[in-house]
Amino acid sequence: MPALVVAGAQWGDEGKGKLVDYLARQAHIVARYQGGHNAGHTVVINNEKFILHLIPSGILHEGKLCIIGNGVVIDPACLIEEMDALISRGISIGDNLLISKNAHLIMPYHMALESASESLMGSRKIGTTGRGIGPAYVDKMARRGIRLMDILDPGLFMERLKSNIERANRLLDALYGAAGFDPKEVFDRYMGYAERLKKHAGNAGEVIARALREGKNVLIEGAQGTLLDIDHGTYPYVTSSSASAGGACTGLGIGPTMITRAVGVIKAYTTRVGGGPFPTELDDELGEELRRKGGEYGATTGRPRRCGWLDIVSLAHSVRVNGFGGFALTKLDILDGLDTVKVCTAYSLDGQTVREFPADAATLERCRPVYEELPGWKQSTCGARKWEELPENARRYIRWIEERLGIGADMISTGQRRDELIVTRENFR
Ligand code: GDP
Ligand code: IMO
Ligand code: MG
Repeated sequence: MPALVVAGAQWGDEGKGKLVDYLARQAHIVARYQGGHNAGHTVVINNEKFILHLIPSGILHEGKLCIIGNGVVIDPACLIEEMDALISRGISIGDNLLISKNAHLIMPYHMALESASESLMGSRKIGTTGRGIGPAYVDKMARRGIRLMDILDPGLFMERLKSNIERANRLLDALYGAAGFDPKEVFDRYMGYAERLKKHAGNAGEVIARALREGKNVLIEGAQGTLLDIDHGTYPYVTSSSASAGGACTGLGIGPTMITRAVGVIKAYTTRVGGGPFPTELDDELGEELRRKGGEYGATTGRPRRCGWLDIVSLAHSVRVNGFGGFALTKLDILDGLDTVKVCTAYSLDGQTVREFPADAATLERCRPVYEELPGWKQSTCGARKWEELPENARRYIRWIEERLGIGADMISTGQRRDELIVTRENFR
């Protein structure tokens, strides 16, 4: 009954999609537990690139059941668009896609509320993806959200929608002077989505529990990353869900004893999109070089990602929060050719050395990185498939990270493509 969680250890975009695609070969089920279409997970097969936003990255393998769990917030228009785009590329979407009936829906007023709120915050804005994620989770927690099951019952849906739109329209007008929505128009649109999605709706928790009882492998795909987690990230510059491994239980409806292992995805350097503190950020030519070489532009919004060195302080925090048993290191190839590679081992704050990740963004903002410098490697690691193919100093870099974090590298990714990967430990046996 192995259930394996793959979660991001940094600020998202670590390469989770690529690893999930690899691990999916041996899984029966691949499930998403949180977030929404703020995620952009890239899988490159041969020379074909797929970017998945809501559908689990296992969909590119035939015969895998892909589940969107109750913890995910779904924009039905985006989901249907994603389904159609995959279908047009020859991927079949039928009973291999199951959506939890309990999952909450993103409504058009969520996007409007978010954009109004962000523009009001000015320079203090979060820099969200603008997908309505935060406001959708707000409605969920305020117990007025609209779930997939609700749009399958037109009478109940119209009732909820009317009261939610009335509320949203008042807010939009009073707080932001923004235009509101017509319930009838939104109702009709969502009835169309209901018609398309109803055959995929079901009880995801029950299906996963049964699969685990039958000894099947369940792969659980995190979105965003631990440092964007609502509780454990750099609040308030976070997303509105539990991105770390703990979210897998509530977001899928399975107990913690069902999770057998959590693997953290770590990019060989660090990136961040949007606002918020980033102690190892490089505001120089090297940061620019990493962005260019690593193609560090958002898979969802196309925004340039901020780039910097690896940060052991924040990674140790992620290892603890997630209980990672191992990690996958990605984009090692992007560091090829550097004379030296820096790694942050502590922060300096008001003359003190800090080794514990600060809980608040304002304190983290004032932290300066303390670096250790490791020798770089001149040879290419691009496409390496065996540990022995890696240059000596690249191996030293990985061993050094393993020692600092106290966990091993299960996988090392050396390129965008599916097969550009070194596997040192099989997670599904
Ligand atoms: P995710 O959100 O965690 O799935 O990551 P993204 O897909 O947003 O961003 C990761 C980017 O890095 C994608 O463009 C991947 O194709 C690419 N990528 C993943 N692993 C590697 C790697 O080992 N080397 C290189 N060069 N690119 C990689
Ligand atoms: P994947 O799954 C990187 C960031 C946004 C913003 C903050 C809040 O591809 O790793 P939101 O729209 O979620 O309310 O924005 O979170 N963010 C991500 N950054 N990768 C992601 O997903 C992200 N999803 C959200 O840029 O800073
Ligand atoms: Mg991404």
